[in-house]
Amino acid sequence: DASDLEKGTYPYYMLKEIDEQPAVMRNIVQKYQNEEGRLTVPEDLVTAMLAADRIHIVACGTSYHSGWVGKHYLEKFAQIPTEVHVASEFSYNPPLLTGNPFFVFLTQSGETADSRQVLVKVKEWGYPSLTITNVAGSTLSREADFTLLLHAGPEIAVASTKAYTAQIAVLAVLSDALGAKLGHDMGINMVRELGIVATAMEAVIDDKERIGELANIYLPNTRNAFYIGRGLDYYVSMEAALKLKEISYIQTEGFAAGELKHGTIALIEEGTPVLAIITQANVASHTRGNIEEVRSRGANTCVFAMEGLAHDNDQVILPAVHPALAPLLTVVPTQLMAYYATLARGYDVDKPRNLAKSVTVE
Ligand code: G6P
Repeated sequence: DASDLEKGTYPYYMLKEIDEQPAVMRNIVQKYQNEEGRLTVPEDLVTAMLAADRIHIVACGTSYHSGWVGKHYLEKFAQIPTEVHVASEFSYNPPLLTGNPFFVFLTQSGETADSRQVLVKVKEWGYPSLTITNVAGSTLSREADFTLLLHAGPEIAVASTKAYTAQIAVLAVLSDALGAKLGHDMGINMVRELGIVATAMEAVIDDKERIGELANIYLPNTRNAFYIGRGLDYYVSMEAALKLKEISYIQTEGFAAGELKHGTIALIEEGTPVLAIITQANVASHTRGNIEEVRSRGANTCVFAMEGLAHDNDQVILPAVHPALAPLLTVVPTQLMAYYATLARGYDVDKPRNLAKSVTVE
């Protein structure tokens, strides 16, 4: 049928969409570039956001996870205090708001009911809002004051992949533009660094069979698994865990590596897969320590480390990218792990049970 044609030679949309990520990165660079070659967002958006004393990111699912990386960027690049909220929680338990809040809605589809009901309230309260979405003209785009598009092309697979990386890239562009306006940007050449990310993504994707082998070693027969990391690597761990659990049905948790010992390490048994992400120099040795802790209790550890911080016997060594942009790269092998684990377990990658691509009920 028609949808099979769009898939081309790919067995599943998810694999096609994973493969498209380098092109999406390059497309974002192109779409946000001004005549001088800098990446910018509209001036009235910059003015509105810099007038805020606090930013609230509101989202669900995978978009919520990219929100955590966005918080890091908004605080580090633009130095605006930022909170991240699950939309369904915010609507019934709104946080104490400061005088000038600004709301950012992250939604691939632009149609998620839980997020929309928060936007409706925010508008009633009279606060400014931005929707970052993949779908021009979607409900949340029409109802917010500002929209930034992901330019990722349609995402069909229920498990979100390219929308996650596109959201992070657009949040980086936005945060960098705010920082530049304030005169304290991080000195990152975004055009160059996002280009390096795209090339690094390609290298990982070209080596996908290796990730498939690892998925087949670690994941086909396990009941549970853990992703661990610190800082930005923790945020990616949360998304990596969601991806694996939602399509392979392996119960997976993403954990702050240092927090494991305060309870959850009790779940580590002989052979429990623990997948660790290491890209941040300031915490690499601490995460290494946590890997040793779980390994000594029988865990089957798999390390994804960035060049420069990697050890020779790490399972996946990722090309070096700017550490702030590492989430864009590290999530790719975890998407592939989820994909291949699901194939190995015999489930439909694109149509996981109980899930919908876009949830338009609260
Ligand atoms: C559904 C999908 C998730 C998605 C979430 C938020 O639950 O299954 O993959 O992350 O909605 O969707 P949105 O379109 O708002 O980003």
